[in-house]
Amino acid sequence: MPTPSFAAFRAHLFHDAALGLSVDVSRIAWPADFFAAMEEQAQAAFRHMAALEAGSVANPDEGRQVGHYWLRAPELAPAPAQRAAIESTLAQVRAFAHAVHAGRIRPQRAPKFTDVLVVGIGGSALGPQLATACLGTPADRMRVHFFDNTDPDGIDQVLDGIGDALPRTLVVVVSKSGGTQETRNGMLEVRAAFESAGLSFARHAAAVTGVGSQLDRYAQGEGFLARFPMWDWVGGRTSELSAVGLLPAALQGLDIDGMLAGARAMDAATRVPAARQNPAMLLALAWHAATGGAGRRDMVVLPYRDRLQLFSKYLQQLVMESLGKRHDLQGREVFQGLAVYGNKGSTDQHAYVQQLRDGIDNFFVTFIEVLETRAPERTVVEVEPGVTSGDYLFGFLRGTRRALTDSGRQSITLTLDRLDAASLGMLIALFERAVGLYAHLVGVNAYHQPGVEAGKKAAQAVVALQQIVHATVQAAGRSLGLADIVRAVGAGDDNQETVLAILRHLAAHPDKGVACEPHVSGDLCEARWVARR
Ligand code: PA5
Repeated sequence: MPTPSFAAFRAHLFHDAALGLSVDVSRIAWPADFFAAMEEQAQAAFRHMAALEAGSVANPDEGRQVGHYWLRAPELAPAPAQRAAIESTLAQVRAFAHAVHAGRIRPQRAPKFTDVLVVGIGGSALGPQLATACLGTPADRMRVHFFDNTDPDGIDQVLDGIGDALPRTLVVVVSKSGGTQETRNGMLEVRAAFESAGLSFARHAAAVTGVGSQLDRYAQGEGFLARFPMWDWVGGRTSELSAVGLLPAALQGLDIDGMLAGARAMDAATRVPAARQNPAMLLALAWHAATGGAGRRDMVVLPYRDRLQLFSKYLQQLVMESLGKRHDLQGREVFQGLAVYGNKGSTDQHAYVQQLRDGIDNFFVTFIEVLETRAPERTVVEVEPGVTSGDYLFGFLRGTRRALTDSGRQSITLTLDRLDAASLGMLIALFERAVGLYAHLVGVNAYHQPGVEAGKKAAQAVVALQQIVHATVQAAGRSLGLADIVRAVGAGDDNQETVLAILRHLAAHPDKGVACEPHVSGDLCEARWVARR
């Protein structure tokens, strides 16, 4: 696409000085009369969003309300009980963090907690990880670590990093459903670490979870230091401003009031029912125009700020888990979605930006620019007379953007005055609303995740099959071939490959007591499997 004229730039520019935000969508190849053509749909999306905020059941598949906007404006919650729950949880988060910082809530054998280990996954980890990466400093009240997987090696790596601080570590287990396996495993792994250090896990643990969930009951039974509620009307990927994100942030000493205020201000700005004056609708319409409303292009997120590197990953989950749907709201097969990837500029210029510029044109870029490149209290260093590293960062962003436009590539540019707690809250709220509006434009439910649930069930089935395969090999008293084992466990031909993978997995772990007797031909499928004595 040609570089837009200044008049076109101006016509497509949203700027709000109070928010400290500009959104430039002039480098999207807008079809002629697109705004007029979409006006009716945009107005319907605004009405839908207003109804959602007023408490409609906007997640019909799960029969749930969608209340993340109330988290930063509790007075908007439709039921007094919801308002009270939000306000009292926020007060509980603050009080708990103060008590931890003051040493009134203290570890079993140390005067104060110094470290926090957050155990969670997906929406129960990405927001807290983003906030930590974005706002953390060496002067924080506590150091924060994460378990966000069931990878034992990853778990060991984090525990090694915590090292001697384990007795001073507060574990925050976060799971809305309270039944997510990866999170349960992480919790049991760290519990084992406390026990081998002769420490009570419960005296170092808090939980954020749905009231009455498996985790909630466990935490209550074990006597955790505290339990914080999650509600079914807040989705995992939109939970950063609930206790899920606020508790770790408050413990770390981050400005949670700033985050909430930023999100609240952005919510107000994105309620405006006029497409050109609403930055979230501008993004949603730009995505629609760029992808044909059918995900025909990917969104590459390029924040020119190291601290926002995780924002690409955060958006990947928010956007792809919300929009990547097989069926629309009418039950028709639509295979919707918007693929998101990215890392950070200008680093990515030395990686995949080559393809963006010269290769397949199947994407649009979202540049994120932060005008203040270094905090004012920091020392200014000139890398050339009158030129700083920040000037180069700015130059690379503008240069790459220009080069992409010259190659006919589309882009959106968000410009923030500065990066702080408020602007992080704004960014989160901006994209939450853009995703919600876009979902309405393309007719999908943004607030459920049937694919994630299906994956959780499939993993359970594999672990259950592993137990049976293991027992079969152990009980055989002789070596068995794959076909024998498949028959014995009643797995069916279509599961042969899975059984073979299970056998290889078992044989790779001496504690499982299963060995492989390789076939002379070297054919893995003909190998025999035997209990290791
Ligand atoms: O956004 C979502 O809903 C998911 O990514 C969940 O956050 C994730 O599956 C973890 O679920 P839970 O918080 O129930 O452990």
